[in-house]
Amino acid sequence: MAPSSLRPPRHHPSPLVVLAIAVLLVLRTADGLPEAGGGGGGGGLYREILRDETVQRLKELGKISDGDGYLERTFLSPASIRATGVIVSWMKDAGLTTWVDQMGNIHGRYEPANSTRDALLIGSHMDTVVDAGMYDGALGIISAISALKVLKVTGKLQRLTRPVEVIAFSDEEGIRFQTTFLGSAAVAGTLPESILQVSDKSGTTLQDVLKMNSFEATSTAISQARYNPESVGSYVEVHMEQGPVLEALHYPLGVVKGIAGQTRLKVIVDGSQGHAGTVPMKLRRDPMVAAAELVVTLERLCKEPNSLLTYDEECSCFTEESLAGLVCTVGELNTWPSASNVIPGQVNFTVDIRAMDDQVRETIVTSFSRLVLQKCDDRLVDCKVEHKHSAAATHCDPELTSQLKRAARSTVSAMPGRTVAAGETPVLMSGAGHDAMAMARLTKIGMLFVRCRGGISHSPEESVMDNDVWAAGLALFNFIDQNAVSEELDAGQNVVAVALAVAES
Ligand SMILES: *[C@@H]1O[C@H](CO)[C@@H](O)[C@H](O)[C@H]1NC(C)=O
Ligand SMILES: *[C@@H]1O[C@H](CO)[C@@H](O)[C@H](O)[C@H]1NC(C)=O
Ligand SMILES: [Zn+2]
Repeated sequence: MAPSSLRPPRHHPSPLVVLAIAVLLVLRTADGLPEAGGGGGGGGLYREILRDETVQRLKELGKISDGDGYLERTFLSPASIRATGVIVSWMKDAGLTTWVDQMGNIHGRYEPANSTRDALLIGSHMDTVVDAGMYDGALGIISAISALKVLKVTGKLQRLTRPVEVIAFSDEEGIRFQTTFLGSAAVAGTLPESILQVSDKSGTTLQDVLKMNSFEATSTAISQARYNPESVGSYVEVHMEQGPVLEALHYPLGVVKGIAGQTRLKVIVDGSQGHAGTVPMKLRRDPMVAAAELVVTLERLCKEPNSLLTYDEECSCFTEESLAGLVCTVGELNTWPSASNVIPGQVNFTVDIRAMDDQVRETIVTSFSRLVLQKCDDRLVDCKVEHKHSAAATHCDPELTSQLKRAARSTVSAMPGRTVAAGETPVLMSGAGHDAMAMARLTKIGMLFVRCRGGISHSPEESVMDNDVWAAGLALFNFIDQNAVSEELDAGQNVVAVALAVAES
């Protein structure tokens, strides 16, 4: 793709302007094409904005915290309010018109004159977990602002043919109110009215928190945050991978084909409580060993499902591809009375099952529930399986995904010092939820993942290489350039340019 500066201006230029442009062109080209060695940073790669400034802003935002010595920024907390001011100033610096909606989401938009087209939304979340890293959420917001800033400095912002808007969502992690996606669900218009009454640990309701921060805090006001689906064309999100796949593939960027569906269960195992010294092994009804067996059974079911399915559970959906994202976890286990010399009376544990294929997930859930009853019968303990939560998988739009893939590929092959062959951009599945999941209820979604160190996230150890931050911003810029700066207009302008050039020669 041609660097912006190669495109001639729209109006008839004066000789002085032509000269100035020629000088700029020479400077830009000399400023360092990828191969031009160490010092250069331009060459259409905009290193100063997309890497240096983005990284510096990530660090700055990472210091805005409610915690002392660790990063914590929850929904509308004092640190979130301070962060809002900073993010707004960055959006303005990128040439965007800003506002904060009734759920605390920050918007920065460029509205081209006379555009009748639907908007491209780009976003991620500004809230964090407790003792968080500085990339989760923030990377998606800041790299989007940086990509738009590059559009501004290259004069492309004025040539956008559809509105482009960056949104920093106020809540995705759901730490404060134990309910995820407050921000993006408000924009998608899927929050129930009852949401205003949920309360945080201190008993403060969402409504109180909104009021304390001068929001209207009524369901009518919140519904104003909702976007009309017809006014939105697509939603794109850049996010750190939070997993180890890209690192293992030695690839800085990947596209996401979808976000896994999820089922959460709670298993309650009741046995006979007893004295650890006096009850013979043969006479025990021990819920602990039953639970242990169930945990191992779950692992086996998810590693080699076909080995444990019964005939009527067998599903043509169990292909190698559909099983790829299947993961099962027991993360919490509680025992009663939890003493070293007592055979427990009760053991409870949680089960988290995720898969890209909803049918696969449902089959695993059914099959695990059957195995629980069967194993518990064998051990003479009483078991109950409770369904706590389930969400279907979210699929990314294939066209957006292939556009992002193209943008990622051209970016990676242009990056200096790349260590990978310019192969296909990896296609991943997201095991974690993201704002894109909520936005999928409103519009088509696409996601770009960025490599991180060791797959670590939700930890101060989170780390993304500076050059990968750069690659993410550049891919986003390339994506917008290729998809929101319309071909027709470009072609039209080129015709004018050729005419001008001919007239001048
Ligand atoms: C937008 O429309 C108005 C009125 O129709 C017109 O005067 C103006 O030149 C247009 N602007 C652009 C950038 O096309
Ligand atoms: C297990 O879960 C039940 C139902 O939620 C609860 O009443 C009980 O206290 C839990 N037991 C343990 C050991 O946590
Ligand atoms: Zn996140």
